Amino acid sequence: MSPKNTNILVYIVLLVVASYVAYATDPNQLQDFCVGVNNPIDGLFVNGLFCKNPMVVKAEDFYFQGLDKAGNTNNQVGSNVTRVTAMNLPGLNTLGISLARIDVAPYGVNTPHHHPRATEILTVLEGTFYAGFITSNLQNGENKLFTKILNKGDVFIFPQGLIHFESNIGHTPAVALSAFSSQNPGVVTIAAATFGANPPISVDVLSRAFQLNPVIVKNLQSRRFE
Ligand SMILES: *[C@@H]1O[C@H](CO)[C@@H](O)[C@H](O)[C@H]1NC(C)=O
Repeated sequence: MSPKNTNILVYIVLLVVASYVAYATDPNQLQDFCVGVNNPIDGLFVNGLFCKNPMVVKAEDFYFQGLDKAGNTNNQVGSNVTRVTAMNLPGLNTLGISLARIDVAPYGVNTPHHHPRATEILTVLEGTFYAGFITSNLQNGENKLFTKILNKGDVFIFPQGLIHFESNIGHTPAVALSAFSSQNPGVVTIAAATFGANPPISVDVLSRAFQLNPVIVKNLQSRRFE
């Protein structure tokens, strides 16, 4: 081998080693937390779910039925999300993807929430949505809102971790199908997490945070959130 070729070879080897090192990070978390235990007998599950022996895996493990059926939107917020994640479609375990059907009654809202572990890509199947997401705190202190009116066939993205919402601004039921970049995206509903936490967050904390009279905070905390 000529010295020049040897140099190229060394360069390629270094590149491979460097990219290997770059990938040698901890795996992404697949649930809110996973507290360590010393004895496996005290443990519940690993990061994700245990794997079924491939010799006994069946087509049914990759199959889910019923997304043609609308969720019941007869509730406070006028919306219902039917989730298809590794929890009810075990074949999704370790594959980093999942799905949800979103039904919103006329003037109903899939209220502001975020997914700690996934980006969402939404496709409108029926009706008209007003949808948007808010950036994290920008350098100038702003939180920028990006919104769109979405009609049948339109697609919109909610980047991972950002607060977003969809409301039905039409006169007929609206339906969307969303895909997520996690087998378990998780949901944090803003109203429920802040005013419906169990046990409740101190009234002083919320009064300061939302700059509201404590009486109003207590009123909000007395409500039931979906
Ligand atoms: C969503 O719809 C399902 C199926 O109709 C129903 O069982 C569930 O209670 C509904 N959830 C809410 C929050 O209304």
